[in-house]
Amino acid sequence: MYLSLSYTTLFVCFYCAEVVYSQDASRTILNASRTGLPSSDVVGSITIPTTLTSVSNIETSSIFSLTSSASSIIITAAPTSTASSNPSIAPFPPVGSIPRDYTPAGLSRLWDLIGPVEIPPITTTVIPQTPIALPSPPPALYPPFFAVTPKDILPDLKFPKGFLFGVASAAYQVEGAVKDEGKGPSVWDCFLRALDKLLTRYFLTILPADVVDLHYYLYKEDVARIAALGINSHSFSISWARIFPFGAADSPVNQEGIDHYADVIATHLKSNVTPVVTLFHWDPPLALSAYYGGFASPNIVDDFIHYAKTVFTAYNGSVHTWYTFNEPQVFCSELGSFPFNLTLPNGVNSSNAQFQCSYYLLKAHAGAVKAFREMHITGEIAFKSADYVGMPWRTNNTEDVDAVERHAAFGIGIFADPVYTTGDWPQILKDTLPPDYLPRFTEEESKEILGESDFFAIDAYRTYWNTAPPEGIGACVKNLSDPLWPSCNLEVMVDLNGWASGPASDPLTPWLQATPQFLRTSFKEYHRRWPAPKIYFSEFGFTQPFEGLRTPAELSQITEDPERTNYYMTYLGELLLSIHEDGIPVEGAFAWAIMDNAEWNSGLSARFGIQYVNYSSPNLERSYKRSAFALCKFMAFSETLQALKNSSRLFQQHLQN
Ligand code: BGC
Repeated sequence: MYLSLSYTTLFVCFYCAEVVYSQDASRTILNASRTGLPSSDVVGSITIPTTLTSVSNIETSSIFSLTSSASSIIITAAPTSTASSNPSIAPFPPVGSIPRDYTPAGLSRLWDLIGPVEIPPITTTVIPQTPIALPSPPPALYPPFFAVTPKDILPDLKFPKGFLFGVASAAYQVEGAVKDEGKGPSVWDCFLRALDKLLTRYFLTILPADVVDLHYYLYKEDVARIAALGINSHSFSISWARIFPFGAADSPVNQEGIDHYADVIATHLKSNVTPVVTLFHWDPPLALSAYYGGFASPNIVDDFIHYAKTVFTAYNGSVHTWYTFNEPQVFCSELGSFPFNLTLPNGVNSSNAQFQCSYYLLKAHAGAVKAFREMHITGEIAFKSADYVGMPWRTNNTEDVDAVERHAAFGIGIFADPVYTTGDWPQILKDTLPPDYLPRFTEEESKEILGESDFFAIDAYRTYWNTAPPEGIGACVKNLSDPLWPSCNLEVMVDLNGWASGPASDPLTPWLQATPQFLRTSFKEYHRRWPAPKIYFSEFGFTQPFEGLRTPAELSQITEDPERTNYYMTYLGELLLSIHEDGIPVEGAFAWAIMDNAEWNSGLSARFGIQYVNYSSPNLERSYKRSAFALCKFMAFSETLQALKNSSRLFQQHLQN
């Protein structure tokens, strides 16, 4: 059954990524604002390429309306109330209607909202054979006259002592075992199913990550496998719903969840792999959405702080580097879209949900960091930003220069300005968004938020150009129904002559092209705009085109991933230059991802792993790809300071600080 399931996904989800579309996040969910319809009237939209089907083949219904353009069909869902009342589409009960019943019966009731989940093929922690035998490394990828090998890339430049050379993952994307050992449902357990129900009408499917990599039981092997490569750090997240199945501060803690992560952390330490822990990687407990609307409600603040304190207490001393939130901008920008908007509280709608969320999330971040300090937790803490500071598409065009500022403000500044520089939203946001969209901070709130970070972390996958909307920024800002409102800028991935900014990734990740040539500029901008004593390059990675379409029988074609390898080698080379030539204090880099995993709405089809996972094999066998070897070779040759004498004055200064 496993085999046939994953084949179906591989095939069908080839189209899913094109179905799944979002403007700012541009990678995950469905975004009402792209439809061009007044966003208050829709709960979401899906764009399906016309190559998949034709408008006439799609059955219209009272719930969805259809419009079409040259290249796509847009299915627009009706307002929440209508959608919620149709059980086949949105079986979610109204917010607040589920009682806070913290008994096992209450937990079952929450799981009943979801229905059956897939039982994993393994149900206890697996102790791996030690040591993990590394296969022989791949031969050089290209002749030396064409491309150097990892050890020859800037051989005189080294990463600073103590540099974290890591891989990254996130609980929902790798763990599986979603209902095991007392865990409560997360919104993803529920909402991917809602989305899947909707898509089945159009012969599409999205598999929820019920099993996925089963890292929950296979973590010992996974840690041993990265340790064998010489990777010295793993950035992973804790599932809030495993620690608090009901999420809330007054609800019981799940000791099995606490014990589980204690062993995960101990396993890393035993293998000399530094654990870097994220408290929240987009997977809130479903209960909190049901009780009060999750991050669209002020109630989330205290519940998150309580969860954070519980985790700090449990693992204090074993974890040094902490993140409160992963990419809050991406998370909040999804909240107004189907299916997340099925649980918006009264007074919040699809249009303002993103900014209500941003406000509460920043308060939750600041509260958690305050607790971290008050509890004298050892270590450092920040949140992870994402996105880039772009370049004007038309050089010297003032509208495009403004577009760059708008992109940076809406993508990064929205969270980074309040924390790193001003204690307040970027002026661009305040000038665009009325207070009923974007709540304003009181003076006291500003003081609480400003400075609550020990370092700056950035998931910097790519850097592009920005341009103004065709109608001009001014016109867009004034027109709340402009599809580009409120950010009123466009991302451009081709230069003025039509050449791509870099090699394309898999069609399932259309937002991603490899742009190493812009990395140094981007890092200079991060550091100039949001100065911090230290920067972590907290995620970067690439999908090898069409990898997800290959079958397990094509293992040797899968493990040969030249585009991903080139991405990592060029990005790391530029990162070395950024440290040495530009004096940027980068002290860690984390490849996304430790292995193939559930890429949110694209399921298992978009592959980011430096290790392949055979989803058809009963033990979910992992295999290293070429990129994994390239990374570890590069690291081995770049990790000492023997070339300090050759390095620039700026770098030496940075080391002394
Ligand atoms: C997210 C990951 C995601 C990756 C690739 C990052 O922004 O943190 O969860 O899988 O991008 O899309």
